[in-house]
Amino acid sequence: MTTADQQTWTSVDKYFDAALIGSDPVIVEVERASEKAGLPPISVSAAQGKFLHLLIRGARAQRILEVGTLGGHSAVWMARAIRSPGRIITFELDPLHAEVARAAVDQAGVGDLVEIRVGPAADGLAALVDEYPEPFDFVFIDADKASNAIYLDYAVRLGHPGTVIVVDNVVREGRVLHATDEGSEGVRRLVDMLANRNDVEAVAIQTVGERGYDGFILAVVGS
Ligand code: SAH
Ligand code: DHB
Ligand code: MG
Repeated sequence: MTTADQQTWTSVDKYFDAALIGSDPVIVEVERASEKAGLPPISVSAAQGKFLHLLIRGARAQRILEVGTLGGHSAVWMARAIRSPGRIITFELDPLHAEVARAAVDQAGVGDLVEIRVGPAADGLAALVDEYPEPFDFVFIDADKASNAIYLDYAVRLGHPGTVIVVDNVVREGRVLHATDEGSEGVRRLVDMLANRNDVEAVAIQTVGERGYDGFILAVVGS
């Protein structure tokens, strides 16, 4: 069997991005600032960012939750999609990442819509449950993969019937099948949880592109 390689996946992303996204100086600057600050190059791609953006627009979502901010790339894409009067709360463990993201969302002109909470997301999510906020319409889970099942459980608790949940990096070049690293184990625990719950329905979609071979889970909270 022949199969396309990384170079092809990257070129295909460039082809579609040129036609469907075009030049986006704000996003270019967000990525440049992250790189300059020495953050790891593990943000969503532009295509993945716009995918989240369009899911939020399509769902007419107003209250967004993110777990794993990094330099704010996905947060900017999502904040730009929010229907007024909306907000995004995003959790980040690393104070440097949070600082870079704060500057990025401010520079992108969406700072007023983004609240960055610094610290371990599991603690932050527990505190958020205690705040008893309005339910969230859309959740993007993209932090330490070992805690995916914990984050999914909070996402359902903080959501409502119809809340859309996206979990990034669930394929890991196929390592999800057998690998024993913490992340792969964490994805399998998440999948076991999803298989055994009847209050949320999910599917996994494999992806290739400039970020390699990976995939995401899309879940919707049921009634
Ligand atoms: N969503 C971002 C990428 C996130 S990368 C984007 O696409 O632009 C994963 C982030 O999760 C990193 O910044 C990392 O510091 C953060 N993280 C790791 N463990 C965490 C934890 N326990 N709580 C909160 N954030 C965590
Ligand atoms: C890693 C994390 C991510 O969220 C991602 O999209 C890619 C890689 C990582 O921790 O290596
Ligand atoms: Mg990710």
